[in-house]
Amino acid sequence: MSDETYLVTGAMGCLGSWVLKLLLEDGCRVVAFDISDNDNRHQLIIDPSYRDSIKYVKGDLTDLDQVVSATVGISHVIHLGALQVPFCRADSSMGAEVNVVGTVNVFEAARRNSIEHLVYASSVAVFGSAEDYSSPTIGPDEERLPTTLYGVWKCANESTARIYGADYSLPSVGLIPHTIYGPGRDQGLTSQPTSAILAAVRGAPYHIEYGGGLGLQFAPDAARAFIEAARLASEGSEIHGLGGTVASIADFVDSVKEVTGFDEITHGEEPLPFPEAVSSDSLEARLVSLAYTPLNESIDLSAKWFRDAEAAGLPLPS
Ligand SMILES: NC(=O)c1ccc[n+]([C@@H]2O[C@H](COP(=O)([O-])OP(=O)(O)OC[C@H]3O[C@@H](n4cnc5c(N)ncnc54)[C@H](O)[C@@H]3O)[C@@H](O)[C@H]2O)c1
Repeated sequence: MSDETYLVTGAMGCLGSWVLKLLLEDGCRVVAFDISDNDNRHQLIIDPSYRDSIKYVKGDLTDLDQVVSATVGISHVIHLGALQVPFCRADSSMGAEVNVVGTVNVFEAARRNSIEHLVYASSVAVFGSAEDYSSPTIGPDEERLPTTLYGVWKCANESTARIYGADYSLPSVGLIPHTIYGPGRDQGLTSQPTSAILAAVRGAPYHIEYGGGLGLQFAPDAARAFIEAARLASEGSEIHGLGGTVASIADFVDSVKEVTGFDEITHGEEPLPFPEAVSSDSLEARLVSLAYTPLNESIDLSAKWFRDAEAAGLPLPS
């Protein structure tokens, strides 16, 4: 057993579930902090023999005292808890509370508990549309031009990290996911590629509403990047793109059809209002061991995972 103890916020979510699974397999202790106690994704992703050793803390990121007390005795913090674009649209005040105040609370709790550095999720939504930039793949330091409130609040998270670094010498690593896909991804604007895999496995027609190119990150690969970033000796307030495969939605759909043998998956043409991809070169320079599962292999793994889960009667999205 490692002597590392991780606080993972948003631990019942997609990335949180994969981060917990990999940490437990690494022999680490984990504290799973989330406002939700719905463990559907844990049933789907984490081996039952490991789940008993998770310390579950049902708590609200907007409550500083709860976050501070969850951080006592912690060596590493991975902050993933947030409300995604559709939830922020539905209730913008709540979105700001969770995504902005909640993130300030995580930094404050880390400071009060002398955590050496923390890792948090930014988002491609901090950027503008593809036409705002001179190339389809942009650097992580390109101009922030968010088109959604969610993106505005992710910008606030990055600035919060910078000020905690400058004022309190609390270093951090912000990672910028684009489109996470794989088992457990079932909510948010960019969850449709994963829903397409699940629909194909079930033999149900599915339409992805958008087109264009996407930086696609297989959930276990992304989770590994967050964990390894948490283990880095941090150098100030870093922000990096998250690596994976850059592909068009058309190519993604072709791979789903090829892997599953099911043809009735379609897609729209309008690209999402983001750049196609954010370069992960700076992250890979810091973390040379990162590896990415090729697209076809990851879709095949996801399809098998869904088939096995259906057969075992595990809770999958309807
Ligand atoms: N999934 C993607 O493609 C993607 C892309 C860009 C950025 N991100 C960011 O990565 C992080 C993880 O994404 P995900 O796909 O796992 O999201 P998710 O929606 O699956 O999980 C988020 C979790 O946060 C929890 N949460 C919400 N409000 C909370 C509160 N007040 N207190 C405590 N917990 C709360 C939710 O219950 C949920 O379990 C998020 O910060 C997200 O914004 C994800």
